[in-house]
Amino acid sequence: MSIPPLSNVPTHVAIIMDGNGRWANKRGLPRTMGHRKGVEAVREAVRTAGEVGVRYLTLFAFSSENWTRPEDEISDLMGLLKAFIRRDLADLHRQNVRIRVIGDKTNLRSDILPLLLEAEETTRNNSGITLVIAFNYGARDEMARAMRSLAVDVKEGRMLPEQITPERIASRLDTAGIPDPDLVLRTSGEERLSNFLLWQAAYSELLFVPELWPDFNRDSFLAALERYATRERRFGGLSKPATLAVGS
Ligand code: FPP
Repeated sequence: MSIPPLSNVPTHVAIIMDGNGRWANKRGLPRTMGHRKGVEAVREAVRTAGEVGVRYLTLFAFSSENWTRPEDEISDLMGLLKAFIRRDLADLHRQNVRIRVIGDKTNLRSDILPLLLEAEETTRNNSGITLVIAFNYGARDEMARAMRSLAVDVKEGRMLPEQITPERIASRLDTAGIPDPDLVLRTSGEERLSNFLLWQAAYSELLFVPELWPDFNRDSFLAALERYATRERRFGGLSKPATLAVGS
């Protein structure tokens, strides 16, 4: 299918990929099968985003709260992420995709961290879409780490408290240098942000779609972008066109 004419394509789309477990339950399959199918949906989402001109795609792959899931599910999710990077990195690199990983990288397992760093390093100079993988990510944790680093600067005399501005806070977040998401989308019908990009989503459009993540395909993505295009973004003012990129 060719790309329909899309107006007001968001610069940055962030997705909470929810519903893998329910997708599997509905079919009498183990939850891990839902995650496996979810990886295929990840590939399709990256392709579609690149095709339509989205510049940044952030995917919530594993939250800092997901460690409370059963051990076998955690181990399967880790395995899938590792396999995704091992198998898809060369292909993503060829597609000129740049990979960034956000989330707390301290104390990550020794079989995961080097892979994530390698993915970032290999694709550092690519100029196509940026795929931001949120791994071991929680927005409150991200903000606490940013505040701590500012507090150290104040304590050591490099900064005055009154120099702490929203811009300086943003520059200490994991997303430094990445424009705020224009659109935050969550699949599976749940309507929550679940500790995802709480600072960055201050003016994002929110879209909740009923599809479970493994069913979220190219058509679902295009339909979501069409809905986004009809939104009028005001950024706290009276009226601004939806084409205005956040951060500009
Ligand atoms: C939510 O579904 C999904 C997750 C916790 C993990 C998402 C991970 C993937 C799609 C695979 C790995 C990611 C990459 C980037 C390769 P859920 O388990 O909470 O579903 P439920 O709410 O129906 O139980």
